[in-house]
Amino acid sequence: MKAVVQDRFGPPEQVLRVTDTDRPVPGPGEVLVRLRATSVNTPDWIAVAGVPYALRLAARAEGAVRGTDIAGTVAALGEGVTAFALGDAVFGTKWGSGFATAGTFAEYTVTAADRLIAKPEALAFTDAAACVMSGLTARAAAVDAFPTGPGTRLLVNGASGGVGTFAVQIAKHRGAHVTAVCGPRNLDLVRDLGADEAIDYTERDFTAGPDQYDAILDNVLNHPPRRSFRALAPGGVYLPNSIGNTGGLLAGLATMAGANLRGMATRTTVRSVDGNFTPDRLAEVAALVTSGAVTPVIDRVYPLEETPAAVAHMYTHHARGNVVITMGD
Ligand SMILES: NC(=O)c1ccc[n+]([C@@H]2O[C@H](COP(=O)([O-])OP(=O)(O)OC[C@H]3O[C@@H](n4cnc5c(N)ncnc54)[C@H](OP(=O)(O)O)[C@@H]3O)[C@@H](O)[C@H]2O)c1
Repeated sequence: MKAVVQDRFGPPEQVLRVTDTDRPVPGPGEVLVRLRATSVNTPDWIAVAGVPYALRLAARAEGAVRGTDIAGTVAALGEGVTAFALGDAVFGTKWGSGFATAGTFAEYTVTAADRLIAKPEALAFTDAAACVMSGLTARAAAVDAFPTGPGTRLLVNGASGGVGTFAVQIAKHRGAHVTAVCGPRNLDLVRDLGADEAIDYTERDFTAGPDQYDAILDNVLNHPPRRSFRALAPGGVYLPNSIGNTGGLLAGLATMAGANLRGMATRTTVRSVDGNFTPDRLAEVAALVTSGAVTPVIDRVYPLEETPAAVAHMYTHHARGNVVITMGD
């Protein structure tokens, strides 16, 4: 099968190559999926570029196949798997046990059967792939970490990326007042997605006031937590959700840790966003899409052969919604 193999850490277009490898074989409890689509997420560029450098300790580079989001059809069943039949359309994830080294930037991948669910007929493979990590993370923020609803005010920093575009729509669907922070070329996009207010970060710093919010979903972490906290209403909740784009040894990891410490010191509620897969959570995201409440925003769809360019695009930190990769027709 064709797969995108990594040689070492570095710029995606220099360290990723498309090659022929052996098709994986499902073990007991596993499913072989013929992939139709996957998407590129933050853990993928981190594991390819190897920044923040500290994460190199957790990710092997040589020979790895990255990618975690799965949308495809069942090609073989491991021993004991009864939940699916050959040819079933499914979607789900490989995420959950660290960076993927036998991932989804390939024609086939293997995952545990309990990390897949049936794909609704009405959900395109490309949309299904976009729903997994981005949709799950946005749902975790707007439903679990801060239950948005009528009368709540949510600010989404980094509103025009994969996570942000889902978060704006999910929070709006639940009745919240949503303020979206993004760059100038994406103001119309976030308004179209339902944002009540759109802030161009090149014109206005949301941490400078005067407006305050019940929760801030911070997908960028480009302000020190002490400043972001100033934009919280009394009792407000800060949701730091970024490894950060600054590179270096720790990048946003240090800021995330600092936010938690500062939260304890100032009695500000800081909650992490647990975007991990459960079948129910992914089914909930899919239902939002098939009902028309949420539309996945897809920036570009790349063929598998152009995966290095897809990862490089995500690594610019200015993808407009989700970056999707497709296999075959
Ligand atoms: N908790 C979890 O399980 C989990 C899972 C996946 C991802 N994440 C985190 O979620 C975050 C968002 O991921 P993503 O997939 O949406 O992609 P992303 O590449 O982090 O976000 C891209 C977006 O960020 C915006 N952006 C860049 N600089 C900005 C700034 N200074 N101010 C405001 N917005 C800015 C860009 O908007 P413009 O182009 O308009 O500038 C672009 O639309 C990541 O930081 C990642 O670490 C968490």
